Amino acid sequence: MTTSTQASSAPTKTVVLGVTGCIAAYKSAEIVRALQKAGVRVKVIMTEHATHFVDPVTFRALTHEKVAIGLFDDPTDPIHHISLAQEADVMLLAPCTANMLAKVANGIADDLLSTTVLATTAPIVVAPAMNVHMYENPATRYNIGKLQIRGVHFVEAGTGYLACGDVGKGRLADVEDIVSATLAQLGIKRDLAGKHVMITAGPTVEPIDPVRYITNRSSGKTGYAIARAAAARGADVTLISGPVALQAPEGVSMVYVQTADEMLAAAEEAFESADIGIFAAAVADMKPAHSADHKLKKGADDSELSGIELVENPDILETLGAKKGDRVVVGFAAETDNVLENAQKKLIAKHADVIVANQVGEGMAFGTDDNEVWFLDHEETEALPLMSKARLADAILSKSLDFLL
Ligand code: C5P
Repeated sequence: MTTSTQASSAPTKTVVLGVTGCIAAYKSAEIVRALQKAGVRVKVIMTEHATHFVDPVTFRALTHEKVAIGLFDDPTDPIHHISLAQEADVMLLAPCTANMLAKVANGIADDLLSTTVLATTAPIVVAPAMNVHMYENPATRYNIGKLQIRGVHFVEAGTGYLACGDVGKGRLADVEDIVSATLAQLGIKRDLAGKHVMITAGPTVEPIDPVRYITNRSSGKTGYAIARAAAARGADVTLISGPVALQAPEGVSMVYVQTADEMLAAAEEAFESADIGIFAAAVADMKPAHSADHKLKKGADDSELSGIELVENPDILETLGAKKGDRVVVGFAAETDNVLENAQKKLIAKHADVIVANQVGEGMAFGTDDNEVWFLDHEETEALPLMSKARLADAILSKSLDFLL
């Protein structure tokens, strides 16, 4: 079993993050990571003053993108502020100093960041951070009011001990609040923040000998889509994966396994602290009673392959469903016939809250990007329309949330 946290598939939305010169600038690094975990691309613009607090290399390393600072720094792009302004799906200023606030409120464009803000048509989110007296100064209050009237979204500064020694309002808001406000502008919910979601995905592989194995058909796409969606919605995600040809989603704790026994062990551990368990893996039902340490011989006379003894694998969903407590448990039923009847039996036998049922067979579900399913719970059966596995992942998470106490 191996564990890791890795990078993901290409994000579709871009947040341009403006970092201004303030002691809280180091927190922008956490903001970058949290936005990336939500599946968002981040490009950073720093003011000259911000570079005194955090080295641009930090943001360059985190974003794998050039960090823009001066209006004329990019010789390949003489109107850099316009291209950055157009790339932004959301413009976020965090931390935003009193000075930048005043410039934006008055349409002043005298550096790359303020010029880009003036040039963008994207929604603007501002998280101010400054000394309490600067924050309470009528000039700042007036500027904030002006910007709010123009539709700029504010993530209010918090109260507490400030870097200058004063105590009061002016601390940069919590990273989670800033990220939530930003993602809300992109239509991404954060309703799983603080929740631990455990997901099994892909097939398991049961070795017969060093060359041969028993497995199930599974691309792992559904489980990976659920993991990606859960991370985007703020969850801590553990994805326990059999061998698949997919990239790990951003910000997800990966546990790579081969056999059903390994998957069970990893799932038991992750389930301890899980709020939601989603069992999307296509676990092999059987394994050889003994895995040979040499390649077994075939052939009529001395075949070692005939009569391989098979034993049943543990049922991971059933084992953990039996001790679910308050956790929400979601299982799958991929059936070739009598789909709903078989799914109903699994709902009860495996102690699940929800079974996601679908018809499988020629060209259906396996490895495809779309799926048409039913949700069965102990009250009702709901038929969902054909949808992408990404949309289905969100629907499964929303359904799970209905059961979370
Ligand atoms: O019994 P069947 O394999 O059709 O049940 C499917 C559901 O049970 C899926 O959610 C699958 O991940 C789970 N399962 C499991 N361990 C097994 C077999 C199935 O967790 N050994």
